[in-house]
Amino acid sequence: MPGITLCSDDRGMTETTIALITGANKGIGYEIAAGLGARGLTVGVGARDDQRRDAAVAKLRAAGVDAFGVPLDVTDDESVTAAAKLVEDRFGRLDVLVNNAGITGGMPQEPTRVDPAIIRTVVETNVIGVIRVTNALLPLLRRSSAPRIVNMSSSVGSLTRQSGPGGATTTGPVAMAYPPSKTFLNAVTLQYVKELAGTNILINMACPGFVATDLNGFRGVRTPEQGAATAIRLATLPDNGPTGGFFEDAGDVPW
Ligand SMILES: NC(=O)c1ccc[n+]([C@@H]2O[C@H](COP(=O)([O-])OP(=O)(O)OC[C@H]3O[C@@H](n4cnc5c(N)ncnc54)[C@H](OP(=O)(O)O)[C@@H]3O)[C@@H](O)[C@H]2O)c1
Repeated sequence: MPGITLCSDDRGMTETTIALITGANKGIGYEIAAGLGARGLTVGVGARDDQRRDAAVAKLRAAGVDAFGVPLDVTDDESVTAAAKLVEDRFGRLDVLVNNAGITGGMPQEPTRVDPAIIRTVVETNVIGVIRVTNALLPLLRRSSAPRIVNMSSSVGSLTRQSGPGGATTTGPVAMAYPPSKTFLNAVTLQYVKELAGTNILINMACPGFVATDLNGFRGVRTPEQGAATAIRLATLPDNGPTGGFFEDAGDVPW
């Protein structure tokens, strides 16, 4: 049911709420789109591949979600600029941005043998990509009465968990690119929180848990739907909700 719909979500809004999710063609991002759509939000499916994006939009629409496709490669300036223009031309603003797209860079990534090119590639997507997309969409988010930004992080980016008892075994493999990229993302997100303090923009980080997706060869133990839950909650926070937090289903993730 594409087009403008009236909805009321947890934020008490009674106008259509527009969301954009990056990397929404599959995995956790798709389920975030499905979950927000089921709550009545209009969802932009950000995806870099035309066929995968069209298929996801069609599947969401078949499920009754007001979904639209947004060609979007988070590593490409032109693509991100065009994505922001598409949203602006169609809606004039954005209410919710979920920076979900991410890569591991492939394993193994032992610190003593890693190819620096892998680190650059992962940081380009998981960190610079988030900055690129956020900065392109911020002018549209500023026009919203209740803007929300959710950055998809991971508890493997928690230095407390990495360094705590059993950290090396409980927080994933020793890896030089992916976990540090999420630590970097958390640090970057906090800088946005500081600059945007005093505005109505709530920015938080979500950890989905260990979810069975392409990212880990489907070795995760949670479903993508379960993995989407925290991001959906943070995307639909009420105006008095938290900002600058790092959350998983069970509550705060330690830094
Ligand atoms: N799975 C887990 O256990 C887990 C745990 C903690 C955090 N996370 C985080 O959750 C997020 C989603 O991961 P997932 O598990 O759902 O992985 P996934 O199934 O591999 O999905 C990743 C998504 O990101 C997209 N993507 C990758 N590079 C992109 C780019 N340059 N531009 C646009 N889109 C791009 C992919 O698109 P293509 O289909 O085109 O490749 C895909 O849609 C990631 O940020 C990940 O780090 C996952």
